[in-house]
Amino acid sequence: MEKIRKKYSNGEVTIIWEPDLCDHSSICYRSLPKVFKLSERPWIDAKAATTQEIIKTVDRCPTKALTYELNKNIMIDQQETTTKITILQDGPYLVDGNVKLLDNKGNEIIYKKGIALCRCGASKNKPFCDGIHSHIGFKD
Ligand code: FES
Repeated sequence: MEKIRKKYSNGEVTIIWEPDLCDHSSICYRSLPKVFKLSERPWIDAKAATTQEIIKTVDRCPTKALTYELNKNIMIDQQETTTKITILQDGPYLVDGNVKLLDNKGNEIIYKKGIALCRCGASKNKPFCDGIHSHIGFKD
């Protein structure tokens, strides 16, 4: 079966939503309700906020069901230089900021802005959270 991958653009940034990865953490619609509107269809209105606001919210998605692509020639002011790690209730470590993750031999696994690291131990995509914590009843 083909994976669903929907896109919503404001002309500068394109929000990509992969519903199969979503664990309904509610971070998106609590952080930016003018863009992420659960009761409307389509539920994402990328034109309702600035590109910076969208990126800041999408970067917090713990399972990466929401990601984004910047359209060409768009420069984003990266004012945040401090990497922030948040322990989500009953969920992953959410790392906000530029992250370079290395394996035990020093090889780069990933370099990106914002990742969610598994805290429950059950992810099939370690060290990343794959959303399974919400299905196994992880509490912490
Ligand atoms: S914390 Fe999300 S899969 Fe483990």
